Amino acid sequence: MIMKKVLVTHPLPGTRIHDLSSHCNELVWRGSGLMPASTLREELADCQGLICMLTDRLSADVLACAPQLEFVSSMSVGVDHVDVPVLSARGIALGNTPGVLVDTTADLAFALLLAAARRVPEADNFVRQGKWSEHNAWSPEFFAGKDVSGATLGLVGLGAISQAVARRAAGFGMDVLAWNRTARHVANVRNVILDEVLERSDFISVHVALAPDTRNLISAARIAQMKPGAVLINTARGGIVDERALAEALLGGHLYAAGVDVFEREPLTADNPLLELSNVVLAPHIGSATQITRARMADLAVDNALAALAGQPMPHCVNPEVYKS
Ligand code: GLV
Repeated sequence: MIMKKVLVTHPLPGTRIHDLSSHCNELVWRGSGLMPASTLREELADCQGLICMLTDRLSADVLACAPQLEFVSSMSVGVDHVDVPVLSARGIALGNTPGVLVDTTADLAFALLLAAARRVPEADNFVRQGKWSEHNAWSPEFFAGKDVSGATLGLVGLGAISQAVARRAAGFGMDVLAWNRTARHVANVRNVILDEVLERSDFISVHVALAPDTRNLISAARIAQMKPGAVLINTARGGIVDERALAEALLGGHLYAAGVDVFEREPLTADNPLLELSNVVLAPHIGSATQITRARMADLAVDNALAALAGQPMPHCVNPEVYKS
């Protein structure tokens, strides 16, 4: 029997990857850094399967280079790097890795929230740079930040990660408001309209997927609507928040601080205005980055691929309509 060829664009952690080689002819990209787009196009030419990362852009052009493709399994929950309509039109199943990263990502959202509120990176730099001296020491205003306990948290989107953030907020005695396209009943969370989230929250955390209707959702106008002195956290996707407007609001003092893990262009380019600001805590898209969670994500990605290789529906399929025909 001829085995199908499956391209894996990065060596994977986890245990399930060891099962893959007995079910297909796997080709694991072992180059340094991200797999170049040109290499991806070349390798896809004779592949039936692909296990990819969120850094692999699967545009219509790239997919056109993969005439034999039968399935794609992405080691990510978000699939905005993939042209899903093109895959669906060709009957190609797309798998993702939901669920296992919920708590890990919620932890990072809360870590950014606390770090931004209490100016942790700024304080760390201050100490390391030897600025903490007899003349520059404790005073009533010294590194005074914002209280988290008892403050109002506004959630934009109320999916699994957002709900996990709400559970953490309950431990801090926060009053939690949320906007979701369809209201969801979640303990200790009040469903309100988006305007109310923006206008009433001391902290706003973004948790919607990036899609055409959420691109630039947190626009300049919506940032202007936020309560003066609010803190914005984004661990969802770049492209949802207008980064230039955010930088202006932070610089001008309308917003107190921000915590940002995801950007319009990743890796961040040197001209990004957020880099200049001390009241923004930056992270390099590490929401799901713990060893255990990454291994679980890799295992789910392999399980999706193994199901596809066995002619079965993927356990986590983004476009299950491909199984209907
Ligand atoms: C992370 O951003 C993911 O989509 O898994």
